[in-house]
Amino acid sequence: MKYGYFNNERKEYVITNPKTPVKWTNYIGGLDFGGLIDQTGGALLCKGDPALNRIVKYIPQLPASELKGETLYIRIKKNNEYVVFSPFYVPTLTPYDYYECRVGNGYSIITSEILGIRTEVTIFVPMDSQREIRDIKVTNISGEAIEMDIIPFVEYTHFEAMKQFNNADWVPQTMQSQCINEADGKRVIKQFAFMRKDTNVNYFTSNYPIASFETDRKIFLGDNGYGTFMKPLSLFQEELSNYEALREDNIVAALHKMGQLEPNETKRIITQLGQYTDFDYEMTEIEKYRDEKCVDEAFIKLENHWNNYLSKFQVKTPDEDFNTLVNIHNPKQCMTTKNWSRFLSLYQLGLGVRGIGFRDTSQDLIGIMGLCADESTEMIGKLLSIQRRNGCAMHQFYPLTMEATKGESGEMENRDDFYGDDHLWIVQTVCEYLKESANYDLLNKVVPFYEKDSKDKPLEEATILEHLKRAIEFTHDNKGRHGIPLLGFADWNDCVNLPKTAESIFNANLYGKALLEMMELMTHLGDEEIVNKYKDYYDEMKIAVNENCWDGEWYLRYFDHEGKPLGSKVNEAGMIYTNAQSWTIMSGFADEQRATQSLESLNKYLNTKNGIKLSYPGYNGFDPNLGGVSTYPPGAKENGGIFLHSNPWVIIAETLVGNGDRAFQYYQQINPILKNDNIDEFEVEPYVFPQNILGDEHPQFGLGRNSWLSGTASWVYQAATKYIMGVRADYDGLIIDPCIPKAWDEVSIIKEFKNATYNITIKNPNHISKGISRMEIDGKEVDTNKAPIFADGLVHNIVAYMG
Ligand code: GLC
Repeated sequence: MKYGYFNNERKEYVITNPKTPVKWTNYIGGLDFGGLIDQTGGALLCKGDPALNRIVKYIPQLPASELKGETLYIRIKKNNEYVVFSPFYVPTLTPYDYYECRVGNGYSIITSEILGIRTEVTIFVPMDSQREIRDIKVTNISGEAIEMDIIPFVEYTHFEAMKQFNNADWVPQTMQSQCINEADGKRVIKQFAFMRKDTNVNYFTSNYPIASFETDRKIFLGDNGYGTFMKPLSLFQEELSNYEALREDNIVAALHKMGQLEPNETKRIITQLGQYTDFDYEMTEIEKYRDEKCVDEAFIKLENHWNNYLSKFQVKTPDEDFNTLVNIHNPKQCMTTKNWSRFLSLYQLGLGVRGIGFRDTSQDLIGIMGLCADESTEMIGKLLSIQRRNGCAMHQFYPLTMEATKGESGEMENRDDFYGDDHLWIVQTVCEYLKESANYDLLNKVVPFYEKDSKDKPLEEATILEHLKRAIEFTHDNKGRHGIPLLGFADWNDCVNLPKTAESIFNANLYGKALLEMMELMTHLGDEEIVNKYKDYYDEMKIAVNENCWDGEWYLRYFDHEGKPLGSKVNEAGMIYTNAQSWTIMSGFADEQRATQSLESLNKYLNTKNGIKLSYPGYNGFDPNLGGVSTYPPGAKENGGIFLHSNPWVIIAETLVGNGDRAFQYYQQINPILKNDNIDEFEVEPYVFPQNILGDEHPQFGLGRNSWLSGTASWVYQAATKYIMGVRADYDGLIIDPCIPKAWDEVSIIKEFKNATYNITIKNPNHISKGISRMEIDGKEVDTNKAPIFADGLVHNIVAYMG
């Protein structure tokens, strides 16, 4: 079954059936104001923090048919009786003649035709003004005059979203609504709670007179609260009650009387949902966005912004599905994960468990580096401000308060422990930034470490370069009995929580990769002494890994607290792990023979038609010495599931050994676009990568879950652009080193790099996968596959020949 199609011209995915297997979402705005919109118009919005300042009540656990956060009701008069329906299908479930939800970049447009009325609603947050706009156009296509009213609806949550669920005493007594009447009937309906000094006020308003309104859910539903969202009884009365709630479940339903619409007549209404602290300022902004022209301009500005972002890297290959993903949807997902980390989705509910993750965001930032590098610097500073003085890092922070926690769930807080990997990720992030931007000043920026005195003043601060050096030293100083870095509470694989003193081969490789990056950077900066020191660290680790961690046909993954291996042929479950193979190649520790052999073993034991599993066989039953991983059934998530984030690492490893056909095969196995025509098995959106797909040990093999916010986005984008296309920024130029399927004749790439456009054509006359034999720049032959930094604002044509 199919639920929609890709429209590349408009850079959209178009959902044509609202009854998708699970809600399919899109993001509008950003963490400073915004949230997600589902395909039936539901919305989850927040400002600054989804736990402490949430605006709209969206409870994903409710059935798909239930109202979630927002909707729009339309009522028409037929034979003197009201007929009420929602043009978004949910919650009235009225049969439709036509339905479409266009999932665009920073906006969704829902169009439907129901009972002779065509409704088109564009939902977005303007680039530079914090408000959700719903631009509603209704057209009478019934052929006869229709009298109609439209009633936008919002259900609020308490600002402190969790309290909604766990404090049914305080919350309902504090939420209040109030209506301000403006002269021409354009009311502003406020919703607030006397919570803090700087009381935030939510509001709803429109560019059209609001005839009457309701702010109390019970009255809105009617029948003493036993009415339903499917058929709210108050909408069958001529007017709403104009009740200003002083407690209880606050909503806003705003009745706009449109009068009679002649056949083919269209009316347009623009609503705004926002939050302010300064009423006078907000009133000027509200007035501005009541103007249709201003809204049109804001929409065009949003489109231009995204078009510009996407234009920085474009490819043309013989494979259309690859092109669509690389040119539109993958970089869009990179921006979204960068904006939201793992803070707010239908799966990470933004209720205080997950914030901005050190590990996650460090990787997400790399995903946007080639497109808008400068958007990463502020976040790099914030992340490093939760690094500890000894070099390891706090695991996550909440941006509104900058409070950091050691772990996600609280169980880490009392432990004298650390994640063995977090701090190492940011080394790659900063180096990628410097390669793309050449803004070396960043290294000298002074950032505090996390520890503070009793007055909340940082105990120490240092340059970003020093922060990176401390990260390296932390791992150097925290090794176990095999000379392999300690695991800590966990490494990238969050769920393998072995008792203390366990060692992680993943951390060894991440450390190796970080050392390679630091050596390159310090060579470029001319600090030979430190390069030599890191070279010794690197060689030492390379020996430790190769002497202790080769299992005969693949690399081990961990040593437990007793020094016993995991990810070995001696293990019945967890015999082989993917990351141990890919990362030993990415760190440069594996020699050619071991690299090839471990990739063959990976292919034999871990590959499936839906992607590569994280490990095999899955653990069956809880084991306190393994921790979280054994809470999942075999084949799910980190327990032998297809954890997509680790697939691009294998793709990169395959390109490093020159296997372009297999790299591309692995890419296409997980390309969500290819799931579009048969999506009932996959269930989630075909326009983004989910975090995981159930593996073949699970009866629901192929089912995807946890879409949108996943490090998969950043890494698949890197795999495609830097390794398959092979266009990589370096300190002194742009490397062109593709590794493509042999069958491809030619590919072309446009990359903006340091104030010049690199227009690259790669020709493959001999049908090989890797190796550039000659290259021409602007018609002149050069003897390198690295194009120089032009920085002249011009377009340069590069033709590279494989051979
Ligand atoms: C989730 C976490 C990430 C972790 C991964 C594997 O995606 O956000 O931090 O690395 O799971 O466990």
